[in-house]
Amino acid sequence: MNAPAPAHDARALRRALGNFATGVTVVTASSPDGERAGVTANSFNSVSLDPPLVLWSLDKRSASNAVFDQAGHFVVHVLAADQIELSNRFARAAADKFAGLTPETGRGGAPLLDGCAARFHCRLHQRLDGGDHWILLGLVEAFDDGGAAPLLYHQGMYAAALPRGRPEAAEPLPGWLGDNLLYLLTQALQAYQVSYRPRQLAAGLGGGEARLLLVLEQQPGLDACALQREAALPPGELELAEAELLRKGLLTRDADGYRLSAAGREQAATLWRVAQRQQQDMQAGLDAQDLAACKRALRALIRQT
Ligand SMILES: Cc1cc2nc3c(=O)[nH]c(=O)nc-3n(C[C@H](O)[C@H](O)[C@H](O)COP(=O)(O)O)c2cc1C
Repeated sequence: MNAPAPAHDARALRRALGNFATGVTVVTASSPDGERAGVTANSFNSVSLDPPLVLWSLDKRSASNAVFDQAGHFVVHVLAADQIELSNRFARAAADKFAGLTPETGRGGAPLLDGCAARFHCRLHQRLDGGDHWILLGLVEAFDDGGAAPLLYHQGMYAAALPRGRPEAAEPLPGWLGDNLLYLLTQALQAYQVSYRPRQLAAGLGGGEARLLLVLEQQPGLDACALQREAALPPGELELAEAELLRKGLLTRDADGYRLSAAGREQAATLWRVAQRQQQDMQAGLDAQDLAACKRALRALIRQT
């Protein structure tokens, strides 16, 4: 690594903090007069088992403060891997984020969302001043443990958890485990991934920016809505990645949508080369027929889902 960067560069600091992978939660509450609020938050963390305490932080600029200021309870919903839509819904400011949903009501009137990996029903324990955020400490009064595979958030993108086997990528284990498809897929994926992101970062781009460039290289002229859908970046992250690419002169925007500039196309080509190099490195030493059969089998597996 180079010399440490100064912390006053908020954009770079935010990007570096994004290396800390988290889950994604939606925290809900209700005011005494029944106004509901829900906020997507990845700042959730466990604090103490005795007493059972958790925390999360809420941006002081968030419109939801009006409700959380008055709420004596809140519910933390740990999102499952298939709840990206829910995460996006509660990450956007809207007049009624619950429109079309029919949530049950929990402690203090807090709306309860279904299908989550876990839910923590909390009484507000303490509200601390944390710079531009309020830190809300909750005393867990009850919880639901759904156990579904979680939705993760890493480098500004949604991600999925892969169960890790042995730390070193040596020979696959013998026996039933070494013959298990999930074990083989996850081990192979980890071997593939570990050096890939750093190579992308070395090309000067964060994950979200890289994804926008690659999508627009394939489909120029997308509008903001289509770009959000195709790039599958969380609200806020899309705007950040877009601003960074516009600032670097890699992207242009006009009435016909977004396009890559000449420099942007060159960057996208660099990213494809990084992807190609990664693939070549991973394929080196594999028999061409084995590889073709492996890709056929993977396509068939994907079709089954
Ligand atoms: C993955 C992800 C994590 C987020 N984490 C937080 C967080 O921890 N705290 C926060 O205040 N906002 C966080 N946000 C942004 C809020 O969800 C968003 O600003 C808020 O819902 C805006 O709505 P409001 O102004 O109506 O409250 C996050 C957004 C995303 C996509």
